[in-house]
Order: sequence, then C-alpha cells, then structure tokens
Amino acid sequence: MGYKIAVIPGDGIGPEVMREGVKVLQAACELAGVELSLEEFPYGGEYYLKTGKLLEEEDLKELSRFDAIYLGAVGDPRIPTGVLERGLLLTLRFYFDQYVNLRPIKLYPGAPCPLKDKKPEDIDFYVVRENTEDFYVGLGGRGRGRWREEHRMVRELYQLKLGMDVESDREEIAYQLGVMSRKGAERVIRYAFELAKREGRRKVTAVDKANVLTHVYGLWREVFQEVAKGYPEIETELAFVDAMTMWMVKNPEWYEVVVTPNMFGDIITDLGAMLQGGMGLAPGGNLNPEGVSMFEPIHGSAPKYAGKGVANPLATILAGKMMLEELGEREASQLVESAVREVLREGKHLTYDLGGTSKTHEVGEAVVRKLREIHGG
Ligand code: IPM
Ligand code: MN
Repeated sequence: MGYKIAVIPGDGIGPEVMREGVKVLQAACELAGVELSLEEFPYGGEYYLKTGKLLEEEDLKELSRFDAIYLGAVGDPRIPTGVLERGLLLTLRFYFDQYVNLRPIKLYPGAPCPLKDKKPEDIDFYVVRENTEDFYVGLGGRGRGRWREEHRMVRELYQLKLGMDVESDREEIAYQLGVMSRKGAERVIRYAFELAKREGRRKVTAVDKANVLTHVYGLWREVFQEVAKGYPEIETELAFVDAMTMWMVKNPEWYEVVVTPNMFGDIITDLGAMLQGGMGLAPGGNLNPEGVSMFEPIHGSAPKYAGKGVANPLATILAGKMMLEELGEREASQLVESAVREVLREGKHLTYDLGGTSKTHEVGEAVVRKLREIHGG
C-alpha cells in the first residue's frame, strides 16, 4: 500500500527542482522500507495557457484522495500577476484548509549566513504562519465614482474618515479586508504551542500589529493570551511585526517558535530564508493536521533560471523531508536531513547561489549518494 503522493512540478524551475526532490524522496523511502506511489499532475501556467483551466472542483476532489501533495513552484511571466497565485496556490491551501504554514528557519553548517558572527546554533527556530485568513481572504474592491451597492459600507467609511467625495467620477479608491476568526486564530496558535511542547522549545512569540490594526490583531493577541494559559510551562512574548524584522536580524538566537498572522508571516519568512542561506534552502509545509497537507519550497518559479539546470534543489528536497516527517516517517525524514546537512558541510556539490558551480541534478545525486552512505555506514 504505502503513501500516495500527488506531485505538481509546476512552472519555471519547478520541474527541475522537483525531479531532484522526487529522486531523493524515492531513495530515502527505499532505504527506510517505506512504500510510496507518486502521481504527477500538470497544473500550472503552461497548463493554464493551453487549457484555460487552473484547478477545477473535480481536480481538487481527485487530489483529496492523496496522502500529501508535493509542489514545485507556480508562476509564469506571461500570465497577469495574481491569477496563478490565487487560482492555484491559494486555492489548494484554502480548499484543503491547510491552516498552518510551517516554515523552519534553520541554518545548516556550510550554508552562507549574511549575518556577521551568527552560527548554526544561533539560527534555529520555527515560524508558524496562519495560512487561510487575514488579508489573504481576497475580499475587497476597487472603483471610481458611483460604487456598487455591495461596497456601500466602505464607501461611507471613506467619506466619513477621509472626507473624500467618492461619488465623484474622479476619486478612485480600493480596499482590501483582513479577516480573522477566533477559531482560525485559535487553531494555529494552539498548533504553535503544541509544536513547542513536542520539540522541547521553551518560548512562543506572537507577531502582530495590534497597536495600529486593532480589530483584527486585537483579536489575535487576545486569543494568543488565552491559549497560552493552557501551557504554563512555555514562556510567551508579543512582538510587533516591524520590531520583529529588526530583532530577527539582530538576535535570531532569541526565537524558538514564532506564530504569526498570514501576511506578516509571508514577509518575515522571506527574511528568515535569507538568514538560513537563501531562498534555495527554505522549505515550507502547508499543513492540515487532520487532512491533506502540501509541501513546497518557499521560493517561486524563477523564470530567469528556468531550463538552465542551475537552480538549487535543496529547498524542495527539504520540503520532501518535512513531508516524510508529517507522514510519521521519522527514519526516512532524518535520513534526508542528514544527507542534506552532509552535502552542505562538505561544500563540494553546491549550486551557484551557495557559491558553487554544480548543476541542479548533481546536487540531487550528491544527496542520494550521501543517503546511501549514511544508511550503509
Ligand atoms: C509564499 C508566496 C505566496 C504567499 C504567494 C505566491 C501566493 O509568496 O508562499 O510565501 O504569499 O503565500
Ligand atoms: Mn512569500
């Protein structure tokens, strides 16, 4: 039987890095005696341009028969910004209610950290990003002049607060709503505390901007403090997102588990990726602990590098490691991590972003060789 994994290589460098991700996944599972069956799906920019389709209800139903989804990257410069992001990536996250976006920030020995004097032991924390709410819900509008009835509330607000004559044809305004539910905040915050407990971490930091965006992040903060009461052994801390970006650079060693609303999480995990050696090394898991989860590198499709065979596959390989861990396959998962760690430490097979000259497939093959060595020895 084993696990059924849906593979979506996607666009740009997606297929190249995914080829290596799959190679490593299969090798690790073979060594650890884990059965795996993979099925590939063509969704992405190319597919959209050919068929006019993004992801239909029946595609999603089909994907729901799998134990997990392994995704390369989506994004295509020929398609207007936002179409694939919403129609594919966010559709998957929302449909499967993957409410946790887990992004470990971990500096492996040999990976280049841009911070002076920071060592691997200084950079090792988890960002738990809420993944279904906040400004990502897609509610909003844009208009000029006589607004449609559905925008009435916002129109009135604009008029009242800004004294804008929104009825005139000259004033163009746009708005976007951030939405937070008690349930949505609670489940991801609880996940963060449980993660801290499971991983032996002593502190959870909540990120927000409750000093200005009082409604949405006021609720977030309140729920954080309530959930924290159930974990008296874990220290808590509140951080405004602007200060957070400063502290992450100045004192990354301070953090253990960071829980954040969706949009701030998006921003601080790109910063986190740089701390751990760049986008080529940063994996993420979109988790629904009770359902179908999806694993991906956090980088995009990097069209500039597509087809050249030079992209770093390690983020995708590490996303595969996270998938194995989430499936409960600890041995296979640890094998992959140890192999990646060794390849980085040796520094003989690195892509250009890490200062090397290796091709994408050479890095994948080096990881597979290491897996075998580690398992055999
Ligand atoms: C990410 C990406 C996505 C996000 C985009 C492509 C929708 O930036 O996974 O971090 O904003 O979540
Ligand atoms: Mn992002």
